Amino acid sequence: MDIRNGPSAAIYAHIVGWGMAVPDGVLSNADLEAIVETSDEWIRTRTGIRERRIAGERDSTASLGLRAAQRALDVADLHPTEIDLIIVATSTPENIFPSTASLIQHWLGATKAGAFDLSAACSGFVYGVEMAAQAIRAGGIQTAVIIGAETMTRVLDWQDRGTCILFGDGAGAVVLRASPTPGGVLSSVLRSDGSGSDLLGIPTVGSEDLRHSDFHVQNGHRLGKMFMNGGEVFKFATRVIGESITQALDKAGLTLTDVSLIVPHQANLRIIQAAARALKVDSDLFVSNLDRYGNTSAASIPIALCEAIEQGRVKDDQHIVFVGFGGGLTWAAMVIKWTGARPPEPGASTLIKQQRRQASYLWARWQTQLRRLNRRISDFLARFLPIQRQKPDQD
Ligand code: ACO
Repeated sequence: MDIRNGPSAAIYAHIVGWGMAVPDGVLSNADLEAIVETSDEWIRTRTGIRERRIAGERDSTASLGLRAAQRALDVADLHPTEIDLIIVATSTPENIFPSTASLIQHWLGATKAGAFDLSAACSGFVYGVEMAAQAIRAGGIQTAVIIGAETMTRVLDWQDRGTCILFGDGAGAVVLRASPTPGGVLSSVLRSDGSGSDLLGIPTVGSEDLRHSDFHVQNGHRLGKMFMNGGEVFKFATRVIGESITQALDKAGLTLTDVSLIVPHQANLRIIQAAARALKVDSDLFVSNLDRYGNTSAASIPIALCEAIEQGRVKDDQHIVFVGFGGGLTWAAMVIKWTGARPPEPGASTLIKQQRRQASYLWARWQTQLRRLNRRISDFLARFLPIQRQKPDQD
């Protein structure tokens, strides 16, 4: 399908599907009292968090991301082969490589999609939506799935009460699709300040700093475990939320009075309240669900978006704002005009499409086994049978 009416016709990137997935396991503040020296009262009053979800043995960043993406495809009523690009924003990928996005691409049966992971910590989802929107507006692709997925509880230092009480696991996803109808992603502001790399992070295999920097050694930072200077991150977050929202609105030619809803990264209720005070708006303008999920990093904005949609807080023609901030340091704000996307009406054709999607997921699983078996057989034959291989320079 070519949605351009002519060579210069504008293309817009609209959110047409959304979905979320959280693990069943719940870790309450009372549970944490048994792990570190803390209290339900301290956590609630300092952060607003009451409980968070914790990945079980069978959950992983990819499995949560897959479920969120499948739900988003159901709402968009699209087949996986219609996806051109899959981006997974995550700080807890399955591997350094292959990307979590590649795993999800295969499990969906999205055989015509490119896939990559994006590392921008808690701002990653907004970065991902902007990358996909640019590709759509440039005409390079038509449909993208952007997923924020995390298993933060697997990178926490459970002896550090300053961090382990904050984070939870989960995933959220949106489908972004090209359309000639004006609206969708209107503007965005993406920013980074790497001088704050000592404020929060998760050192991994290539970390020079961990081996040589006195700062990391003195502070006892560990490979694969999160560290954070909560106070400094708090100050940074309250400053950049207001700034970046104002900048993104300016770019879209709008002001705060045009905004119906702000979906912020869910880090701390006090950060959201401070940002509302700085912007001189009611804190009800901000979506907040961190009492039930804690900070799910790159997954927090799409999860909060899904719940806001379910609660009827997102309506046609409204302007909504996403704002994220976190490790890097990074931050990002985005203005979207919501243009009437809704799940398909139940009916025979919807059911058939849903079954076709299920068949695609099942076939993808089988294909993994078949391709691996095929590789083993080919390898066996090449080793033990005298097959004449043609050299590249032979005619
Ligand atoms: N339970 C009980 N006491 C605690 C706990 C705890 N879990 N954690 C810290 N304390 C104590 C401290 O030791 C300190 O005690 P002291 O005064 O005797 O030294 C006291 O409580 C106050 O500590 P602060 O660190 O000043 O507490 P603060 O009010 O700043 O809250 C918090 C800490 C919740 C971490 C806050 O700073 C915060 O939310 N920061 C922002 C985190 C964030 O937004 N991260 C987002 C990015 S995440 C990403 O990108 C992946």
